[in-house]
Amino acid sequence: MKVLVTGGAGYIGSHVVKVLARAGHDVVILDNLGEGHRRAVVSGRLVVGDLNDRPLVEELLAAEKVEAVIHLAAHSIVPESVVRPEKYFRNNLVSGLNLLDAMLASGCRYLVFSSTAAVYGEPERVPIEEDHPTLPTNPYGESKLFFEAILRRYEEAHGLRFISLRYFNAAGADPEGELGEDHDPETHLVPIILQTALGLRSAVRIFGTDYPTPDGTCIRDYIHVSDLAEAHLLALNALRAGKHSSIYNLGNGEGFSVREVLQAAEQVVGRPIPAVEAPRRPGDPAVLVASSERAQKELGWQPRYADLRVIISTAWNWHRSHPAGYGD
Ligand code: UFG
Repeated sequence: MKVLVTGGAGYIGSHVVKVLARAGHDVVILDNLGEGHRRAVVSGRLVVGDLNDRPLVEELLAAEKVEAVIHLAAHSIVPESVVRPEKYFRNNLVSGLNLLDAMLASGCRYLVFSSTAAVYGEPERVPIEEDHPTLPTNPYGESKLFFEAILRRYEEAHGLRFISLRYFNAAGADPEGELGEDHDPETHLVPIILQTALGLRSAVRIFGTDYPTPDGTCIRDYIHVSDLAEAHLLALNALRAGKHSSIYNLGNGEGFSVREVLQAAEQVVGRPIPAVEAPRRPGDPAVLVASSERAQKELGWQPRYADLRVIISTAWNWHRSHPAGYGD
């Protein structure tokens, strides 16, 4: 199938492209390289461009005869979205609309959308199922929730079919060592811990120690990026097989606190990692843990790297061999 992956040079996108290409799909990547990396493109054909450039998007979809789109291009830093909501709404909504309209114009009707656990906000109950109330605590989560609403309306009006994948905390790196996580600035817990272990940072800051959790730090459900990537392939296959539009949570169903992640990383690297306590970070819910039963049942999704230490080990292998990331 001819598949367009927006944001395919980014952390999750590059892993998705690898899985799709390996399954025999013909992949075109659209990425403005604002956050992605040319060196993260190990298969498929990269077109450097922006979703804001509507004529480019329209031309690309038509010229390439794209049959399905996997849409990952977005801004995704929770604390930044709190202070710069306009950036998140413009990019995640307006650029997304350009894509949808270009899809309609070219007759492309299948979309897999990269959504997030941040749509739920502070959950009333965990593990979180897909029909849990959605009350995002930050503009990032809100932008993704609004886009899901747009997708439903485009389905009703125009017959677009979509699967929205609500990721919990993506972590880890390609087990074959080709791809990894390189953000600038880095804000995510696992890479920050491992960069500290490498001596690239002086200490990990633990954001908030007074949350209503057993050790006072935030609990998250960490999911291996290659397991996430696999779910996109399954979603694409499901749409092609005639599946109706749906939303799926993707996580391992087990939560770990910031302190527990730090301890697991210390076991993986085999030495203590310096950490200091710091105030809460704005926009962070206390606990996010997924129920992914629906994805398992309906898509046949089975995580292969569910163990937190395995997730961290794959990331550690990459960071050790790429201390400067992709080096661009
Ligand atoms: N944290 C620290 N110190 C750090 C970095 C993070 O204590 O230096 C804490 C955060 O406060 C949070 C946890 O570690 O409690 C995880 O933080 P991340 O920044 O790694 O991930 P988030 O949970 O904020 O966000 C990630 C993705 C979002 C997605 C969200 C859904 O970045 O896109 O998961 O849970 F929406």
